[in-house]
Amino acid sequence: MLTKDQEYYFQMINPDHTCKAYLIRPINSSSIALIDPQLEHLQDYIDIIEQNKYTLKYIFDTHTHADHISAAAALKEKYKEVEPDLVMSKYSQVRCVSLKVQDEMEINFEGIPIKILETPGHTLDSISLIILGKFFTGDSLFLGEAGAGRDDLPGGSPEQHWISLEKIKRLPDNLIVYPAHEYRGRQPTTLGEQKQTNPYLKFTNQEAYVEYLSDLVLGPADWMKDVLKANYQCTQDPKSAWVPLDSPACESLGTLDPSLEKYSVKAISPLVFSQILKDNKDYILLDVRSEKELSGKLGTIPEANHIPLSSIMNDISQLLKWRDKKIITICGSGKRAEIAARILKKLGFQNLLFVEGGIKKWKGIKLNNLRAI
Ligand SMILES: [Fe+2]
Repeated sequence: MLTKDQEYYFQMINPDHTCKAYLIRPINSSSIALIDPQLEHLQDYIDIIEQNKYTLKYIFDTHTHADHISAAAALKEKYKEVEPDLVMSKYSQVRCVSLKVQDEMEINFEGIPIKILETPGHTLDSISLIILGKFFTGDSLFLGEAGAGRDDLPGGSPEQHWISLEKIKRLPDNLIVYPAHEYRGRQPTTLGEQKQTNPYLKFTNQEAYVEYLSDLVLGPADWMKDVLKANYQCTQDPKSAWVPLDSPACESLGTLDPSLEKYSVKAISPLVFSQILKDNKDYILLDVRSEKELSGKLGTIPEANHIPLSSIMNDISQLLKWRDKKIITICGSGKRAEIAARILKKLGFQNLLFVEGGIKKWKGIKLNNLRAI
């Protein structure tokens, strides 16, 4: 549905789809801009343009997408006689970008100001757009409990994302937030409401935010790397990369199998874990942190085997030899250890435990015990 919004017409295309695309048209003009169009819906955009005799002037990609192929290259080719611009961040490596933009830049779209905000974090080339009262956030901010896009894809950085979120927090409350994804049917609301309800806007310091996200690092699935490559190369072939149907892939935990929810695993406290380490030799300890973290401040656990959570499904043969053992999973704060244990349970493993609070809590207890001695 096309709605008149003070100074421009606005349309959310395919509103039921989890990937969002938007259309903007200045009043009294036939020129349009598309935001985040997807190749799988190319024909829908063509139909809208042809039926209404629109002229495609701008295509905005808020970032290089890893979960779907952009329609930008195909639209540029289809409407080459009117030379629509593909607008992306100055950091974009997408080959067919024709207008690179930077922070605070403003594009005058026939009297409609389109203000660019650099909001890196989900990717280095993430931008958000403010178009009068509307705030197109890409994957830099989602709605409500969905938080924001994941930061563990190539070029992602939780540190930068924190800075972007702080920048977003300073914007006026009355902007209406339109993200690039909505996986659970939430409707756009004001930024003011997001400041109240969105957990990612509630962290009060960068360290806490980065620490929270460090427990959600899964790394890109192989299909996402293929999609990124296809988008860098401006493919027009929808078959150039396989994309799973309706996967909430841009969420922090999006590549996880949602059916894991039903596989519950028993947690043990760090104190019980210490006891097991001391008394019981009949277990396999599985540290599922990333490779990088092993040389970080939490260090390693000498008794532990190491398989990062993101590789667990690729290491089945290694895991199978432990099928009849008691397996204890551990990570930094406990979240990934629980997910890993659920994955193992789904694979048929029975004797599973995970350390609640992870190495951080366990080391705290060790320190306290030492102080008591
Ligand atoms: Fe994304």
